Amino acid sequence: MALFKVWFSSLIATMYIFWVSTFSCLDLPLFLSGCLDMVAVEGQFTFTAERPQLNCAVFFIGEPSDIISIEYDSVNIDCRGGDFIKVFDGWVMKGEKFPSTQDHPLPLYERYSDYCETGVTRPIVRSSQNVAMLFFRLHQSGSSFTVTFRKLINPFPCNVVSQTPEGSFTMIIPQQHRNCSFSIIYPVEIQIGELSLGQHNDLKRSILGCAGSGDFVELLGGNGMDTSKMFPMADLCYSFNGPAQMKVGCDNTVVRMVSSGKFVNRVSFQYRLLGHQELQQMKGNSVEDVCLRA
Ligand SMILES: *[C@@H]1O[C@H](CO)[C@@H](O)[C@H](O)[C@H]1NC(C)=O
Repeated sequence: MALFKVWFSSLIATMYIFWVSTFSCLDLPLFLSGCLDMVAVEGQFTFTAERPQLNCAVFFIGEPSDIISIEYDSVNIDCRGGDFIKVFDGWVMKGEKFPSTQDHPLPLYERYSDYCETGVTRPIVRSSQNVAMLFFRLHQSGSSFTVTFRKLINPFPCNVVSQTPEGSFTMIIPQQHRNCSFSIIYPVEIQIGELSLGQHNDLKRSILGCAGSGDFVELLGGNGMDTSKMFPMADLCYSFNGPAQMKVGCDNTVVRMVSSGKFVNRVSFQYRLLGHQELQQMKGNSVEDVCLRA
């Protein structure tokens, strides 16, 4: 079979299986044609079409502090005949993008890089965060391409998709006017250990709500990838130390930090997968249908 040579780590295999079951309404007919892959291990990958492959995608993912580099080594496709290979700076699922268009540093059209347009003049494409995606369409059997996937260090990770359903992370925005999201594509319990939002945030402001603050952290839950379409589960706009935890029974849980650029903002958190029983329990308690809230 002409497939990507993929060595799934067991975690990624778990994640992949989780996706098959959770995102079964995914509007990618790719599973059926056998041209959907998830790649987390660096290496050189060759795809050769044994029949027309019209809707294929490869999801690349690195560690939170990586960016992704994809280099075209050799390409044998018919651009004029309608074939294409495109790299997307982020992930697209069910038509939703991560990072959302609001939170990505580049305008949407600049996030796509089309091999048939840029060709050999731009043989290396780099992402802005730890995820990127390759889309391709090949009409003729025998068409093929080879790319090399590498992970490079990102000294200031902003937007991140977690590879695993448990872990910990510290997000820092160093006096920049930007927003960063950490996405965990599992239902999880999040425990925020420390939140530091400059010096001028105090409890008085939190009583008034977070509406007026230019610096805050929001916890979002939803069933898609686009953070701008997710439901707010909690807003935090004052600094604190000590654990604050919450269960989010959604397919995607996001910690999003909004930063005015006036302060060095920082949030530390850890997360773990919710068990089947916990989810059932939450289902029993929930009145609304906004995923499942504890
Ligand atoms: C960050 O997000 C906030 C609220 O979601 C928005 O008002 C602001 O314009 C965003 N900042 C940037 C730099 O995109």
